[in-house]
Amino acid sequence: MDRIIIEGRVPLKGRVKISGSKNSALPILAATLLAEGTSTIENLPLLKDTETMLRILDSLGAKIKWGRGSVKIATESIRNFTAPYDLVRTMRGSICILGPLLARFKRAVVSLPGGCVIGPRPIDLHLKGLEKLGAKIEIRKGYIQAKAKKLKGRRIFLGGAFGSSVLATANLMMAATLAEGETLIEFAACEPEVVDLANFLNRLGAKIDGAGSHLLRIKGVKRLKGRTYRIIPDRIEAGTYLVAGLITRGEVSIDSASPSHLGAVIDKIEESGGEIKIRRNTLVVKNSGGSLKSVNVITLPYPGFPTDMQAQFMALMCLAQGTSVITERIFPKRFMHIGELNRMGADITIEGDSAIVKGDRTFVGTKVMASDLRASAALVLAALAAKGETEISRVYHLDRGYERLVEKLTELGADIKRIN
Ligand code: EPZ
Repeated sequence: MDRIIIEGRVPLKGRVKISGSKNSALPILAATLLAEGTSTIENLPLLKDTETMLRILDSLGAKIKWGRGSVKIATESIRNFTAPYDLVRTMRGSICILGPLLARFKRAVVSLPGGCVIGPRPIDLHLKGLEKLGAKIEIRKGYIQAKAKKLKGRRIFLGGAFGSSVLATANLMMAATLAEGETLIEFAACEPEVVDLANFLNRLGAKIDGAGSHLLRIKGVKRLKGRTYRIIPDRIEAGTYLVAGLITRGEVSIDSASPSHLGAVIDKIEESGGEIKIRRNTLVVKNSGGSLKSVNVITLPYPGFPTDMQAQFMALMCLAQGTSVITERIFPKRFMHIGELNRMGADITIEGDSAIVKGDRTFVGTKVMASDLRASAALVLAALAAKGETEISRVYHLDRGYERLVEKLTELGADIKRIN
């Protein structure tokens, strides 16, 4: 298994280019199943997760052809409607092929996604919404067996115990594009990735209004046709590099980003004393002064502070002055990174769904193990600021969501290498 070795305390300097958004790419790749003919997706990040989604589409019979930085997906030859367990279990995001398969082919068999280290990953909202549209759904031997004679537009309330659901909104929106009549989705997720998906679907010929708000209105159409579409930048990758610049007391320019998608993160960084300059699609972050001030964070659905930035920001707060309280409202168990950060010199304790993060700490390099995508990113950030050498194992977690991480950090001057 590959490991990453980092010699810390090198202030990062220079420019880094943000890749396409993983969490946009996955539902958009699934959405190509809805379209007749061929769709071309540009700015697709080369990640483990996008590779897995393409393998699922391939296993259904779609024809996949790579171009320069883009991929073409033709769906005429789709004959199989079962997403295999060995692919779905490696990536929860696969659940979002359920809606498109049902809408276009009126049947789907998708393995239950199972849980993951950030907590149980229920899909009750997905199934409730699809059943409301007329799908017959059974759970048998760990698989979701779904079929529908016809999908009919309905008013659906999609709010759950934790607020809106990103992928349930995606699944329902996709299914509704080919349903008969109008569908209203109340308490829809407002994430930029949901807006990106809606824009792609409308490019295919769908009629979706209200994307980015909690009320989606979808008028069903007869068919959708393949088109070309460019994916938005990855706001979580950009946020991760913002923290990398701050935690190493460097100066980093983050290009091809979408600053408007990072409002809550920028607000917290500025509250802690970090300096961020925004020029069109570039964020310049600088922390050459003293250490930052501790600030409190509560993760919320967009436009609140993203849960996917919680672990990374926690690493930064370990070095800030004072104590910060970081509360995780989306995935209350998403604290796998705390144990490993404490082994590197942090002093973090958990009180319910909050982490009490003592500041003014010093990270010291040691051997650590990655556990999930964003927890691993937090370990990389701590290692970049640590005294001495850190060895991170199970780095395949990072490969799921960060394109060319070692190369991009090397270009910023980090002393980092990957060994197998
Ligand atoms: C998406 O997951 C993202 N993944 C996650 O990013 C992200 O953390 C999450 O949204 C929240 O922003 C992709 O887009 C591929 P949810 P999703 O449904 O859609 C509960 C990363 O690191 N819930 O919005 O699966 C759920 O348990 C990943 O890139 C139900 O109760 O998340 C959670 O507490 C990690 N019932 C809350 O809602 C349901 O049917 C929000 O989850 C569905 C979800």
